[in-house]
Amino acid sequence: EMATSFAEPQGQGGETHQVAAGDIAILTSAQGMPIADDQNSLKYGARGPTLLEDPHFREKIFHFDHERIPERVVHARGFGAHGFFELTDSLADVTRADVLQRVGERTPAFVRFSTVAGSKGSFDLARDVRGFAVKLYTKEGNWDLVGNNIPVFFIQDAIKFPDLIHAAKPEPDRGFPQAQTAHDNFWDFVSLTPESMHMIMWIMSDRTIPRSYRTMEGFGVHTFRLVSAEGKSTFVKFHWKPKQGLQSVVWNEAVKINGADPDFHRRDLWDAINAGDFPEWELGVQLFDEAFAEAFDFDVLDATKIIPEELIPVRTVGRLVLDRVVDNFFAETEQVAFCTQNVVPGIDFTNDPLLQGRNFSYLDTQLKRLGSPNFTHIPINAPKCPVANFQQDGHMAIANPRGRVNYEPNSWGASIGGPRESPERGFTSFPAEDQGPKLRIRPESFADHYSQARQFYVSQLAIEQKHIADALVFELSKVERPDIRARMVSHLLHIDEMLANTVADGLGLATLPAPAQAARAPLPDLPP
Ligand code: HEM
Repeated sequence: EMATSFAEPQGQGGETHQVAAGDIAILTSAQGMPIADDQNSLKYGARGPTLLEDPHFREKIFHFDHERIPERVVHARGFGAHGFFELTDSLADVTRADVLQRVGERTPAFVRFSTVAGSKGSFDLARDVRGFAVKLYTKEGNWDLVGNNIPVFFIQDAIKFPDLIHAAKPEPDRGFPQAQTAHDNFWDFVSLTPESMHMIMWIMSDRTIPRSYRTMEGFGVHTFRLVSAEGKSTFVKFHWKPKQGLQSVVWNEAVKINGADPDFHRRDLWDAINAGDFPEWELGVQLFDEAFAEAFDFDVLDATKIIPEELIPVRTVGRLVLDRVVDNFFAETEQVAFCTQNVVPGIDFTNDPLLQGRNFSYLDTQLKRLGSPNFTHIPINAPKCPVANFQQDGHMAIANPRGRVNYEPNSWGASIGGPRESPERGFTSFPAEDQGPKLRIRPESFADHYSQARQFYVSQLAIEQKHIADALVFELSKVERPDIRARMVSHLLHIDEMLANTVADGLGLATLPAPAQAARAPLPDLPP
């Protein structure tokens, strides 16, 4: 039908010219200049050479040459969708966050699911953690809950993140394996990092080969704070529970799917949303106070630990629905920038040393990835509430302050003077009391690396335990160095002896290694 309004004169070389007519728009350059011929560069004579003068050719190739931006340093492969968050139970008693006040109110949302280790073009069913990043465009600014589908993490301190990721990604000399945990560097690192053992149990479980993005849980992982209008602080862990249920594939299926359809998860989400089968998650919170935190066996600031739901039940407070696919993958899914630092008044951080490091890292990497401090002007990142400040200039500045005044305080009148602080409505950090010597150590409360790993393992059904053992045998059998295999088994002995034996058998270890030694040197005496 469209084609009928094209006049299609053939060029001399037989190339097709589709010409604007009727309501078919005229092709233009980026400067708006109408284009007469998009098939042929300007040449001297019929056979060239091509002329440097040709503005259309130069602009078109110039733009193409700069199409790629760096992929995310982690979570490069992902897929996003739009939707909304609806509050079903008010949290007004524990937080002043506007988004968590009024039952029934909807807040626009954008969610990006991802794998961690693989490059942008890798396959969807890799055995890997899945990112579950949620941006809520609230009336008090964007609140990002940048979570994963597993409630704990590999490391306790952000300073180890570059090592973890280097070890997990392709080995630097050979450039492979792509998106595989099965290699020496990865297992070498984790076997020397006992704090990762709880996470290892989760990643060897079927959680890392989800059936669909729609059948995954999500977790904020860290302990955050909610702060009430009266300034009272309550600790919180965030959970997303899929209405579709929790489902995984088995390894055999994952391998086949990767070959048959590397886009399995993105296609699944795209198809479901387009078919009107909107995936939905419940938002749950675990709320606890300082007294619970003090009495808890583990440190609530340690991201390798969960708060058992038997101790603190999950209270459902809202739902997240994804009901619209993106118009453009690059503009939205690629350019979206999540950051743990993006919170709203009434939500605050804790001293979790992983969270503190993330707050720095995301902003820093996004300047590199998106190329300008003005990436908040990109529509997918722009808040949907009023934005007014005196930030200006930089690459691609498209929202500079208006008028004469770009500083404050100033003595210009209301219409000229620009925005002002709001002590009532503005963000205030919770005035947590912290003091002590400046030290580069890990507290003793972070030292137990095995109890929760065991707790997870024994909580699994027999078939799930078998899958964990099978996965360990499969992955470790790809490891060439016998000492690394044995070192892993030496940790498993602290988690579950049967599991350790099964894995040792599967790997054909002649003898069982001694259980791993205590993880780290004794702590220095603290100054009084
Ligand atoms: C990206 C989650 C730890 C640095 C991401 C993404 C998720 C995520 C979901 C992808 C966001 C998207 O879809 O665009 C987590 C979780 C962590 C964790 C749950 C632990 C609890 C860390 C740490 C660091 C870090 C410790 C560094 C110190 C990054 C970076 C990116 C990223 C640099 C790329 C961001 C971008 O290019 O926009 N993370 N992460 N992450 N993460 Fe993490």
